[in-house]
Amino acid sequence: MPISDMQRLSPSMFIGVRGKGIISFGSGQPDLPPPKEVLSCAADYDDFKYGLIAGQTDLREGLAHEFRKFNASKDDFVVTNGASEALDLTFRAIGNPKDKILLHAPYYYSYKPLIELNHMTPLFVKTDKGKIDIDDFADKAHEAKAVLINSPSNPTGRIQEIKTLKRIEKITHDLGIPLVSDEVYKDLIYERENYMLSGSHVVTINSFSKTFAMCGARVGYLYSNDRSIVDKAIELKTHASMNTNVLAQRMAYYALKTPKEFVESQVKIWKSRRDIIYEGMCKLGLDVWKPEGAFYILPKVKSPRDFVWNMFKKHKVITYLGEWFGAKDRVRFSYALDAGKIEEGLKKVETYLSGR
Ligand SMILES: Cc1ncc(COP(=O)(O)O)c(C=O)c1O
Repeated sequence: MPISDMQRLSPSMFIGVRGKGIISFGSGQPDLPPPKEVLSCAADYDDFKYGLIAGQTDLREGLAHEFRKFNASKDDFVVTNGASEALDLTFRAIGNPKDKILLHAPYYYSYKPLIELNHMTPLFVKTDKGKIDIDDFADKAHEAKAVLINSPSNPTGRIQEIKTLKRIEKITHDLGIPLVSDEVYKDLIYERENYMLSGSHVVTINSFSKTFAMCGARVGYLYSNDRSIVDKAIELKTHASMNTNVLAQRMAYYALKTPKEFVESQVKIWKSRRDIIYEGMCKLGLDVWKPEGAFYILPKVKSPRDFVWNMFKKHKVITYLGEWFGAKDRVRFSYALDAGKIEEGLKKVETYLSGR
């Protein structure tokens, strides 16, 4: 392939690419199956009328029950086309052109386009190995219209310390600015319980994609006690996409009823894969931050573009350029594939690094 093709590397070249002999560390979706209740509940579903824009009542009641510790009501939720739509509606509801949104890098690759498509500007807080520098945060928060936190993070797999999260809650509360918390990986944490950011100024973004392995069903939601944000999101959604797929919402409702052992057993699998890939990369001498949640790892490599290109072209291994996530000297590996494939992929990385 000519060099210009290498320069054009983009996620769309790899999304959905499968084939004989290809090992993909690219895709950010669970390879594990969804709960069986999610599949069986679809068989007798026959109500395909338009649904409520905010989301089906039983699903929102189920979510309110999940969030009962925070006195949530079903009217605090908007069920969306994945967390992706929840993020978009939230930014549109809270921001105006030229506003600055404070976030931390490395970041999920849709954040920057989502902010910029809404004519706002991203403002980055300093981080060290993926962890937020809280003093820098406190300074920059004054300039921001809103803050976006993602813990555990895609692409680092790092979680923010609880004391940092509590300071962020307080600083944003005192400034009276919305705190958007993308918690799509909240159930996939290996080091401690999740600490959910909360308060009247918090907008929680979540999804059934990762916890319940339902990425293609496209069900997510936003949760906020601020009725003006919820109402605005519903108004925007009325004209943008209308209700979220009603059958998928039923599946999500059944996912909520899944015994918690389902998620616990999957977390054990994720953790054992995390150990294999982290230890494997340390043995290869790669500079890497230990993932504490989600299913990503972000090693530093020499010439990341050559790495991603050659690993794909010569070794049939898909990885993602760190540059897409605001980490230009790194590459992202997703370990959403079985242990044997992870080990095989690591051997290929070793071969590449040794120049063979
Ligand atoms: C941090 C983060 N937020 C949001 C999303 C979007 O998720 P959904 O499938 O619910 O739209 C992803 C997907 O990879 C993600 O990693």
